[in-house]
Amino acid sequence: MQTRQLGNLEIRASAIGLGCMGMSEFYGATDDAQSHATLARALELGINFFDSADTYGFGHNETLIGQFLKDGGPARRAQVVISTKFGIVRQPGQYERRIDNTPAYVQSACEASLKRLGVDTIDLYYCHRRNPNVPVEDMVGAMAQLVRAGKIKAIGLSEVSPATLRKAHAVHPVAAVQSEYSLWSREPETNMLVTCADLGVTFVAYSPLGRAFLTGALDTSGLAAGDFRKNLPRFNGAAEVANQAMVDGLSRFGAARGMSNAQVALSWLLCKHTHVVPIPGTRRINYLEENAAAASFELSATELAELDALFPPDAIEGGRYPEAGMVGIERDH
Ligand SMILES: NC(=O)c1ccc[n+]([C@@H]2O[C@H](COP(=O)([O-])OP(=O)(O)OC[C@H]3O[C@@H](n4cnc5c(N)ncnc54)[C@H](OP(=O)(O)O)[C@@H]3O)[C@@H](O)[C@H]2O)c1
Repeated sequence: MQTRQLGNLEIRASAIGLGCMGMSEFYGATDDAQSHATLARALELGINFFDSADTYGFGHNETLIGQFLKDGGPARRAQVVISTKFGIVRQPGQYERRIDNTPAYVQSACEASLKRLGVDTIDLYYCHRRNPNVPVEDMVGAMAQLVRAGKIKAIGLSEVSPATLRKAHAVHPVAAVQSEYSLWSREPETNMLVTCADLGVTFVAYSPLGRAFLTGALDTSGLAAGDFRKNLPRFNGAAEVANQAMVDGLSRFGAARGMSNAQVALSWLLCKHTHVVPIPGTRRINYLEENAAAASFELSATELAELDALFPPDAIEGGRYPEAGMVGIERDH
């Protein structure tokens, strides 16, 4: 697996990371033993960039990764680039959230994540969502203190605007911005991707497979009770039908090249930008292996343009989150 540099740091992450969120909640039943096997296979494939957050499973996700690291000893810890996030505060059983960016919270959330992960330092620590009532300078100042204390190595921001990124970067170098970016979520193309390139910030693309919708393998009528995708406007009703027509075009594009939809979706990100790292999520070894293989495909400029045209941003129907999920998401301007 090729690697990509995180920001201007010495840290190199696999060009395709692993989103671990689904190992704890949101996409149906989870199985810790299966998740550990998937994490182990990821390392064998050279995928070392694991993405977590304190809110995933209310700490379960970090504890799961912590146990995996512990089982492998110091050598395994040294292999993994651990990224996690703070800022979304939820109560079990509820999706509605409070966003906390206060310096005191940054400090206590980091201590709690370090404990669950069982590590001395987090490689990349993100603010998950912004609370505009706390000046970004104050929040990043608190994160910079964590860097100085050796508790984290690098600072990241998730779903921020380019203006927030610039303000934060002036306080302390930001290594990565993580936002939703895929064939059907193209907002970062307006300004954020170019801002990241300008500042030397890595762009980490989350939900790069459109939460499985782009793979063409998702049967939305068969989603388990409680699957988060049941609440997402673009997975439902007329929006789903309209969006499916674009995915059908993606399936034809992939079939003509011997690529799965997931491989095309990931290759599109990697070939289009040298500073983007997608973090597809999966609980399964077979999907993981398929996704890892995407790093070895090359798409030409003509093919990239063809894919761009298959998913005109204005043609995507339905929002990417329900209203409660938009709290703390800044627009791309
Ligand atoms: N910063 C943020 O606010 C934020 C928000 C959302 C997500 N994230 C991060 O980004 C990561 C990735 O995003 P995501 O998990 O939401 O969405 P995603 O990567 O677009 O899609 C994950 C879904 O696709 C399925 N899948 C994976 N590979 C597949 C393949 N080759 N063929 C068919 N289906 C496949 C997975 O199934 P299985 O689970 O059954 O394997 C899962 O249901 C998350 O795990 C999380 O770490 C961050």
